Amino acid sequence: MQIYLAPLQGLTDWIFRESYSENIGKFDKTFTPFIRVQNGEFYRPSQCNDLLAEHNQVQKPVPQFLGNDAESFKRFEEICLENNYTEVNINMGCPYPMVTSKNMGAGLLSHPRIISELFENIFAESKLKISVKCRLGMEDPGEFEALIPIFNVFPLEEIILHPRIGKQQYKGEVNYEAFVEYSHQLKHPVCYNGDILNVSDVEKIISIAPQIDRIMIGRGILEHPFLLAKIRKEEISEKEKVTKLRNFHLSIIENCKKKYSGDAHFLKRLEEMWSYHAEGFENGHKIYKQVKKCKTLDQYEGVVFKAINEM
Ligand SMILES: Cc1cc2nc3c(=O)[nH]c(=O)nc-3n(C[C@H](O)[C@H](O)[C@H](O)COP(=O)(O)O)c2cc1C
Repeated sequence: MQIYLAPLQGLTDWIFRESYSENIGKFDKTFTPFIRVQNGEFYRPSQCNDLLAEHNQVQKPVPQFLGNDAESFKRFEEICLENNYTEVNINMGCPYPMVTSKNMGAGLLSHPRIISELFENIFAESKLKISVKCRLGMEDPGEFEALIPIFNVFPLEEIILHPRIGKQQYKGEVNYEAFVEYSHQLKHPVCYNGDILNVSDVEKIISIAPQIDRIMIGRGILEHPFLLAKIRKEEISEKEKVTKLRNFHLSIIENCKKKYSGDAHFLKRLEEMWSYHAEGFENGHKIYKQVKKCKTLDQYEGVVFKAINEM
C-alpha cells in the first residue's frame, strides 16, 4: 500500500514536511498545499516558496495547482519546470466559498465543461505528469457521474478521491458506497482519502475496495504522527518515539525560525498544528490550552518539551 501525505494549507508546508520526513518517516508521496493562480497570476506569490528546492531537500513534494484556466496552469507549469518538478496535482476539492464561488477547487465539480476545456488545453501542451485531487461533487455526490467520462478520456497520473461533497466541507459522513462504486468506473489508479485515523480505518478501505493500492492521510498524521509506521507494521519502541518526536519538534522550531520573524506569527502557526496534534496526547486538551496561552517561543518550548518528556 502506498501512503501519501495530504496537503493541508497552513499545516503541511515545507516546514512540516521536511521536519517529518527527516525525523519520523518518509511518505511515498507528499503534496504542497494549493498554490492559487488566477488569470495567469499567482494570487499570493509567497505560496510559491513552498516548492523551492532549498525548502525541499529531504523529499520533493508534488506541487498542487488551484485554478481553472489554461493560462494560469501554464504560469504554474513554468515555475514547476524551473524548479525541476515532473509531476503536479490539480485541486478540485477545496470547499471554501471564497474558492468555490470562483469555480475553483470543489466549485469546478459542478462545471464539467470547464474541466473538460481545461484538460483539452493542458494535456495538449503540458510536459508534466498530471493528477487530480477531488471530491464527489459540490452539491450532490451524483455530480461525479458526469466527471467519470471526462477523467477517463485524459491521461491522468492518478485520481485522489475524498468521498465527501464540497458543501460538507470536512464534516459529516464520508460516502464509502459512492467511493467503491465510482472507483470501479475510473480507469486511472485511484487513491482513497478521508478520515483515516487508525489502522482499522485502513483495513476498512482494503475490505470494501481491495483493488485500492494507495491512500492519502492528512489530519490523522497530525494527530498521530506514528500512524505511518503503524500502518507499515514498523516496530518503534516508546523510547524511540519520544526521541523522534522531540527531534521533529526541534526541527519544526528551527524551520519556523527561518520563515517567521516575530514570535507572534510563529506561535499562531504552531497553535494551529497543536489543535490537531494535541489529540495524540493523553492530556491533549490541557496541553493545547497551554500552547494557546504561550506568548513567547521560550514558553512554547517549555510546554511542548515537558509534554513530550511526560509521554
Ligand atoms: C486545514 C485544512 C487545509 C487543507 N488544505 C488543502 C489544500 O491545500 N489542498 C488540498 O487538496 N486539500 C486540502 N485540504 C483537504 C485535505 O487534503 C484532505 O483531503 C482532507 O483533510 C481529508 O483527509 P483527512 O481526513 O485525512 O484529513 C485541507 C484540509 C484541512 C482540514
